[in-house]
Amino acid sequence: MKWKQQIVDMKAYQPGKPMEEVKKEFGLEEVVKLASNENPYGFSPKVKALLASDHSDHAIYPDGYAQILRTAVAKHLNVNETQLLFGNGSDDLIAIVTRALLYPGVNTVMATPSFSQYRHNAEVEGAEVREVPLAKGKHDLTAMLDEIDENTSVVWVCNPNNPTGTIVSDAELQDFLKKVPKEVLVVLDEAYYEYVNSSDYKDTLSYVNEYPNVIILRTFSKAYGLASFRVGYGIAQEEVISKLDPVRAPFNNTILSQKVATVALADQAFIEECKEKNEIGKKQFEQFCEKHGLNYYPSQTNFILFEVKADSDVVFKEMMKRGFIIRSGNALGISDYIRVTIGTEEQNDKFLSLLEEVLVDQGVFA
Ligand SMILES: Cc1ncc(COP(=O)(O)O)c(C=O)c1O
Repeated sequence: MKWKQQIVDMKAYQPGKPMEEVKKEFGLEEVVKLASNENPYGFSPKVKALLASDHSDHAIYPDGYAQILRTAVAKHLNVNETQLLFGNGSDDLIAIVTRALLYPGVNTVMATPSFSQYRHNAEVEGAEVREVPLAKGKHDLTAMLDEIDENTSVVWVCNPNNPTGTIVSDAELQDFLKKVPKEVLVVLDEAYYEYVNSSDYKDTLSYVNEYPNVIILRTFSKAYGLASFRVGYGIAQEEVISKLDPVRAPFNNTILSQKVATVALADQAFIEECKEKNEIGKKQFEQFCEKHGLNYYPSQTNFILFEVKADSDVVFKEMMKRGFIIRSGNALGISDYIRVTIGTEEQNDKFLSLLEEVLVDQGVFA
């Protein structure tokens, strides 16, 4: 068949091993997944109540315009409803942006390592990918500007960045946005927005009004605890949204996912509580690293990337045998580091004491 040349040797996204499989393989009663930055506290109790009582008719198509959710998000953010685009997770929005703007002959600029889907989707579309190494774990916006030329179509800023958890400061971002040519779309991927507590991180919504070439991506998969429902949204000027919308699949959010996201959004107290607990959990990891002299990136998210001074694939496997699924830095482009989702206080304690055991076995410390 006449496959696109660029997909012939392409590999599908490699998700972590399913928890049930890990349980079986290692004879474990319990497995904790700290690999994909989901919320360890789940979702709002109000969502639980809705799920217990919901009687939606799943035989009919959902509202393709997600009107109720749209009204709720627009009100929450104080933007117009026409400034929003809903996706089947923000993964879907990344694919929509890519499909709309990337093709052979144009290029796209991104940091590395960063979220893998920018590169993956750009490659599917046959665009040239220009990757700019992080500087001390952060986007090097000056070097990214240097990569932009007359053929650049999209620039990706993952803020906070996955896998380092670092942010670009508002001053840096402002300077960058001023210099990016207006015909280049800047995607600000803010999947971890709700977890940020740095005063250097300004709410970027005002940039949407100021810059016609900015789109912000956010998601209900992380702090809202709804990863399995697949709801993400983009915020931009109406002109950008109206160009992207025809590229979207017609019914890309289910009836139930629209409902749960609307209810979850209304419970901001839950988000605040999770954020506070996340800060406590983050300190557990930071203290462990400081005690053992392991480098870590200052995270503004619900995960942390830190040094293990050992082969991270080995550490990943040893931790899996002990019931914890994490991400090896090798898979993320930073060897000898692991990326761990911050769990509950109890999960973190258990994880860190087992990790200590593994690192002693590996001869990292006595
Ligand atoms: C930076 C970033 N963007 C986007 C996503 C995709 O999230 P979702 O499709 O679940 O909204 C993730 C998920 O890990 C992420 O880390």
